[in-house]
This record gives sequence, structure tokens and C-alpha cells, in this order.
Amino acid sequence: MKITELLSKIQGEFKISPFRILKILSKIEDKDISFFLKDSEVEISHQTFDFLLKHLKEGYPIEYITKKVLFLGNEFFVDENVLIPRIETEDLVILAVNLIKNKNIKHVIDIGTGSGAIAISIKKQLPKIKVQASDISEAAIKVAQYNAQRLGVNVEFKIGDCLDPFLKDIEEVELIISNPPYVETSFIEQNRFLKYEPRISLDGGYDGQSFFKKISKYSHLLKSKYLLFETSEFTVKKTAEILSTIGKVQILPDSFKKERFIFISPYY
Ligand SMILES: C[S@@+](CC[C@H](N)C(=O)[O-])C[C@H]1O[C@@H](n2cnc3c(N)ncnc32)[C@H](O)[C@@H]1O
Repeated sequence: MKITELLSKIQGEFKISPFRILKILSKIEDKDISFFLKDSEVEISHQTFDFLLKHLKEGYPIEYITKKVLFLGNEFFVDENVLIPRIETEDLVILAVNLIKNKNIKHVIDIGTGSGAIAISIKKQLPKIKVQASDISEAAIKVAQYNAQRLGVNVEFKIGDCLDPFLKDIEEVELIISNPPYVETSFIEQNRFLKYEPRISLDGGYDGQSFFKKISKYSHLLKSKYLLFETSEFTVKKTAEILSTIGKVQILPDSFKKERFIFISPYY
């Protein structure tokens, strides 16, 4: 089908500007937008048209079509087994890297690593420190291992629930980072844009707090450590209260000035 035909079909069905359609097409086909702008005779395949419809109608993420996402300048492979890393999480990594440098931290763990975006980005920037990462999903760990290999970094990956895979050597760990599932169950059920990402990567239980409640049960093991968590601006205060049994809690904003991160440091 010619691009002109595609534009008139899509515009007939959705209220969307031709420029936005072309922007989406350029992402799906991994071409510069100028490729579509300069020639009205360009042929678009049926597969691309179907992907475009699936994206516009059902909110199917483009990143699952192209199988990639850019995170802090590195290209990560993603598929339906992992959450698509978000731009806010780049801020979490920047906070972590600054903290690691300031406190001369040598051993970091990332719980719920998904595509490996956090752990791999930290290791890329600070190759001398020890970085381990875990996930409860075996399929996610396979994606993370693939990304580490493609990006040439050495991160040790483990499968398991919450802190379990690290309990044996927890004494050595100095910083725990996590962007855990923190979305309230009812919100996921109402939001069509969240239906394609793994439920386990999003669902934080009825109040979004189930992971935080779980990790706070280990507070006796964590009192001398630094911890950095991502959460939602809507529930951050509740999360901070839950985690206050571990240490001194600070709420930090993301680049959009939303209260999103929780930083815990030892009381002494
Ligand atoms: C919000 S995603 C974050 C993925 C990745 N770290 C990122 O920031 O893009 C949460 C991840 O935690 C994992 N997860 C969920 N519950 C977990 C648990 N109890 N223990 C370990 N990992 C868990 C999910 O499989 C998912 O990969």
C-alpha cells in the first residue's frame, strides 16, 4: 500500500496528525522520518500496517515491535517477557552512580532486573565494582543475560524472590537498587496501555506495596546498607513509611520533579 493511501485510511479511523503517523512508522521501520516525507509513492508493507493498527487501536508498545529500546545511550533488547525500561529509571541509575562514587561502594545488587537496564548501565559506567542482579522471572533473566552479553559487561544474574538469592552473602552488599512492581492492581486492570507488559513486572498488589512490605521484613539485615528504590509519585509517602524500619529515609524527585525515588541510608 502507498503511504498516501495509508495516511487517508488511518486518518479516517483515528484523530491523529499525518506527522504523528509518520513518526510512528519511522520507528516501526527504523528509518528516518525524511524517508517517508520525501516520497508520497513509498510502499508500506502489510505487516507494518498491521503493527501500526495494533499500536494505535490497542496500545501495543512499539518497543515490542522493534525489539529494542535506548536506555542511557545503550540499546537494550526487549520482548514481552520484560518491562520496557522507562526514562524515569535513567534518573535512578544516575543517582546510583553518583552515590557509588561518593561513598566508594564496591558491591551493588539490582533486584527485579527485567531487561537488565539498571544493572548493566551501572556496570558499563563503573566496570570495577561488583554488580549482581536478580529477577523472579526466568524468562526476564534470559533477556538480561543476552543484553549483558551484547553490551559486553559482566553482571552476575540470579533467579529468585526478593532478597533470597543474595541472603548467603548479604554482609558484602553495600547498595541495593530496585525498580520493583509498584502499580496498584486496580490501576493495571483499568489501563489498556499496561496490558502487554508482564503483569509480574507491574503488579504491586492492591496498594502497590507488596514488594516493599516483603523487603522491609529483612530490615534487621539491611541496617548498614544504602538502598535506592523507584516507586510511584502517588504512593511514595506510604512506601517511605513502610521502609522507615530499615534506616533514614529520603524522598527524591525525578527529572520531571515528581517524587519518585526513595533513598535509605544507615542512621549512624
Ligand atoms: C518494574 S519491573 C523493572 C524492570 C527493570 N529493572 C527496569 O527498571 O526496567 C520489575 C521487575 O521485578 C521482577 N519481580 C517482580 N516481583 C519480584 C520479586 N518478588 N522478586 C524479584 N523480582 C521480582 C519482575 O519480573 C520485573 O522484571
